Amino acid sequence: MCGIVGYIGPQAAVPVVISGLRKLEYRGYDSAGIAKINPDSGTFEIERAVGKLINLERKLSDADHTPHQRLNIAMGHTRWATHGSVTERNAHPHVSMSGRIAIVQNGIVENFLELKHELQAEGVVFTSETDTEVIVQLVEKFIHGGCDFEKAVHMTLAQLRGSSAVVLLNLAEPGTMIAARLGNAGGVVVGLGDGEVLVASDVPGVLECTRKVIFLDSHEVVVAKVGDVKVRRLNGDRVQKEVHTIAWDPVAAEKGEYRHFMQKEIFEQARAITDTIRGRVDFEQGIVTLEGMKPGPTPRKIFSIGMGTSSISTMIGKFMIENLARVPVEVDYASEFRYRDPLITPNDVVLGITQSGETADTLAAMQEGREKGAKIWAIVNAIGSQAQRVADGNITMRSGPEISVASTKAFTTSVVDQYLLACWLAQQNANGSTAEAQHLAISDLMHLPGLVSIMLEKNNIYDELANIFHTREHFLFLGRGINYPVALEGALKMKEISYIHAEGYPAGEMKHGPIALIDENMPVVCICVRDNVYEKMVSQIEQVRARHGTVIAIATEGDTDISKKADHVIYVPEAPAMLSPVLTAIPMQRLAYHMALRRGCDVDQPRNLAKSVTVE
Ligand code: G6P
Repeated sequence: MCGIVGYIGPQAAVPVVISGLRKLEYRGYDSAGIAKINPDSGTFEIERAVGKLINLERKLSDADHTPHQRLNIAMGHTRWATHGSVTERNAHPHVSMSGRIAIVQNGIVENFLELKHELQAEGVVFTSETDTEVIVQLVEKFIHGGCDFEKAVHMTLAQLRGSSAVVLLNLAEPGTMIAARLGNAGGVVVGLGDGEVLVASDVPGVLECTRKVIFLDSHEVVVAKVGDVKVRRLNGDRVQKEVHTIAWDPVAAEKGEYRHFMQKEIFEQARAITDTIRGRVDFEQGIVTLEGMKPGPTPRKIFSIGMGTSSISTMIGKFMIENLARVPVEVDYASEFRYRDPLITPNDVVLGITQSGETADTLAAMQEGREKGAKIWAIVNAIGSQAQRVADGNITMRSGPEISVASTKAFTTSVVDQYLLACWLAQQNANGSTAEAQHLAISDLMHLPGLVSIMLEKNNIYDELANIFHTREHFLFLGRGINYPVALEGALKMKEISYIHAEGYPAGEMKHGPIALIDENMPVVCICVRDNVYEKMVSQIEQVRARHGTVIAIATEGDTDISKKADHVIYVPEAPAMLSPVLTAIPMQRLAYHMALRRGCDVDQPRNLAKSVTVE
């Protein structure tokens, strides 16, 4: 949460920072702010505004868009508020009492009150309610005490508890930017441009200037100058960092012809799934190769964990891995996992699924697995993210940057990744499914991108449904078997972006409670594709109808019986049962998108949410 961008180089720094922040706005949009060093006056010029980045942009002047001299320097922030209400006063950047040091922070300083009281007792006057201001005041205190800038930052960080990513500027050293990462509060990416250097919370924040990056690990501090980037651990040891070249195209993080990122990302799914399969599957031999995974003994059990949409994805993966590889899978919310003292053994695997690779709860759950001796695997979209780096084995989602807060393409690609993992594990497990079953499972993948394209071509029904249902207050989503998690995802999408209360339920459970809610005002989305639970789903539809609920069925193409029972039908092409969630998820995404549009909601940046939740 919170997005940070800093820049030193020959370009006008403010537009570069704003453009980077725009790519990171999914991390928070309560307020935004920017600080640039004015080399003529030797002061910081700071602008801050409550609300979205656009409000800040309106406050910037033409002068902000003109480069000053050979080196221009600025840093900015988009906030997801934790400490202190959403006001301009609490918006970052914050400056020290003398006005000579400035900071932006992502994360939480847990002992900030204690530190604040100590500083106040020494006469420091605070101007905000944030924990962040404590950091910058402490840095100033250590500089007054005789430390140089870098040493002062090290001394300060050593006093903080919690997780933080920070960027600091000092008027006394206008060519230097110091950034640091403490814990799992979020990433720090250093972009190494041609005659310029950037820092950002995430790769899209630097992509416009460079694809060469280094990623900070926890307890590392970077002192960044043009042509001179040094990383040290908090104990002072120098660290040689690997320079990664990011394959993502900067255009991939643009909206292009689409109205919203979510819309674009929904429509990218056929391509993303093609990329996910490409080069990993030998259809002739029936073999899956996963570049980030080393063959080894079959795990006794896999604990599959994630949050939000990624957590729902684990529930689908459970079906795939248990069915194809015959390895038991336990799924859990990452946030609950480590508080229940899970019975993990060294023969187990903890599999973290995370688009951002930075979700605090997911990282903590992976760490729990590590401490209990298990192997750690990760399925991650963000290249170089913490989850990817700490894992013993990893599979990348190959979705490309996902910007919209509500996850879509990362959901379907993570499901396909788990299918690939299931096939890969089956290949190595003597007790896995038969060779014929494995071959069949692999060949089923071949047609998947084409089926997804067909799903994306169908257009009209979503508008029509949004017109009919946009004033409803509640929605119920029912599914069974491998499509039960898709019902959960349908409800989650609806809540997230259209603010309609929605519940996802296993269809068989309906008569144990939710049925009491059903009347003529309750639309019920029933995932009723032709599979082994088809008939049971049909009888659920009958039960809903008997209570005058309105049924929107997701059914297999050609199933004309359903149209006689349901009020509305969205057809999906016939697909192998195990892969059907990839197809049934698409109507969930599109229905929520059209409902949000019709209700005038902010599709890409829904209220109160953030894409990357780096606090617990
Ligand atoms: C937030 C986002 C969701 C996402 C979840 C987990 O809640 O709004 O879209 O599914 O975090 O994120 P991760 O990056 O770990 O997949």
